[in-house]
Amino acid sequence: MSDFTKRDFAKAAAAAALGITAAAPSANFAQTAAESRPKSAPGAAAGFPDGFVWGVATSAFQIEGAVREDGRGASIWDSYAHTPGKIRGGDNADVANDHYHRYKDDVRLMRDIGVKNYRFSIAWPRIFPSGTGQPNAKGLDFYRRLVDALLEGGIEPFPTLYHWDLPQTLQDKGGWQSRDTAKAFADYAGYVAGQFSDRASHFFTVNEFYSFVDLGHRGAEMTVDGKKVRIEFAPGLKLSNAKLNQARHNAVLAQGLSVQAIRANAKPGTKCGPADNLSTAVPAIETPENIRAAEIATREMNAGYLTVILEGKYTDAYLAAAGKDAPKFTDDDLKIISSPVDFIGLNIYRPAVYVVASERAPGFRPIPFNKSHPRMRSLWHVLGPEVMYWAPRQTQSLWKTKEIYITENGCAASDELSAEGKVDDSDRIMFLRNHLAHLQRATAEGVPVKGYFHWSFMDNFEWSDGFANRFGLVYVDFKTQKRTIKESGRWYAKVAAENALPAASVGAGS
Ligand code: FCB
Repeated sequence: MSDFTKRDFAKAAAAAALGITAAAPSANFAQTAAESRPKSAPGAAAGFPDGFVWGVATSAFQIEGAVREDGRGASIWDSYAHTPGKIRGGDNADVANDHYHRYKDDVRLMRDIGVKNYRFSIAWPRIFPSGTGQPNAKGLDFYRRLVDALLEGGIEPFPTLYHWDLPQTLQDKGGWQSRDTAKAFADYAGYVAGQFSDRASHFFTVNEFYSFVDLGHRGAEMTVDGKKVRIEFAPGLKLSNAKLNQARHNAVLAQGLSVQAIRANAKPGTKCGPADNLSTAVPAIETPENIRAAEIATREMNAGYLTVILEGKYTDAYLAAAGKDAPKFTDDDLKIISSPVDFIGLNIYRPAVYVVASERAPGFRPIPFNKSHPRMRSLWHVLGPEVMYWAPRQTQSLWKTKEIYITENGCAASDELSAEGKVDDSDRIMFLRNHLAHLQRATAEGVPVKGYFHWSFMDNFEWSDGFANRFGLVYVDFKTQKRTIKESGRWYAKVAAENALPAASVGAGS
């Protein structure tokens, strides 16, 4: 049941519920759409721009384990994972991949699959065990050793500062419902960037606003295959609309404050930006009208997060839909929230919705996913590889973003280790081939995507799904901690080495 743990379904529904105006946001994509066809002919190798960053991603809570070691404080995910009934199979992340002790081997394994860039997260409760106060030297030291091992191995570190593991002490004081949490996050972010900006040049601030705010403070109910499923993340609250909207506001405030703190403390030239799971509307049929309708939908579906971060205001439709429950904020808050970022990270797994244009407000009509629409192993994971083209393209057209990183993309699969010691994950290779073909279309058209981080480097603790949903390029036997490179890992290594897709993958966007 809890296989279905995510997210965009709720956002798509929310968009439909919004009183979205037809007031159109963006640039001239309607006109340029017809010209913007993939440049590469089927049959040719499909290259990515020179210097394209190929990497893998993980997060601290999902792999580190060692939850009580070296002065680490408890996080809301420790508490949540130990609450009976919350995690599938009764799993917890006390040991997880034991990466805290095995990080050197893991870095070696990254090198074996030719990875040169690694997105990982820093656990706030390792640095400030109770959220604020004195930094914990031993916690810092772990990340210093990790970063050193990466650099020695020729791997560039891309740290993420918040991947959901809020110190429990801050939760006890109100968590994201309190403005003080936004300030505490900025202090922590500034401190960490100050400590590491001599060795890392790119910092991701906050990972997936909707996932930790909405799913953590409201949850969502969905019907999948006729069954009702509740989706929920830590801390597992069910807030009223007014309180939820305020928590969302505090989270984007944390984003803006952290950007300012990083600028104040890090080496000049250090770059930062969020890694968000943009809810993306995909035009069902590629016409100029539908392309524009999809942009309107995407902008409104993200009104509480990326839209306000990048535009410095809540959309009229967002505030109208919230009514008396709208967040309380000042003009100064909006200035902070929209502190300029250097890049946008996009976590892309699936389209939120397909749309066609409509004469009537809000300017688009959602096309529901058909019952037979294919999906990957996770129940939430409908398959729509063209989202990998539209998400970055819309980000550029709506907000003139100059640098985009795909900070996550991948899928769970029913991976098993064969008697010969192999993991033949044909579905993950299919998923990757198709998504990367669409990404290649975007870069060929000049959408400024600078890199791609596969989720995940290795199988890990997949939140409410526990260890059941394996997302890795590397298989992990959680009993022995033995790692085995999957067939998809080999496929990905080849793409990264050649900076191009194999010829047979080309043309998917046409
Ligand atoms: C994203 C999370 C990441 C992982 C993948 C599958 O929402 O950021 O930690 O769980 O989904």
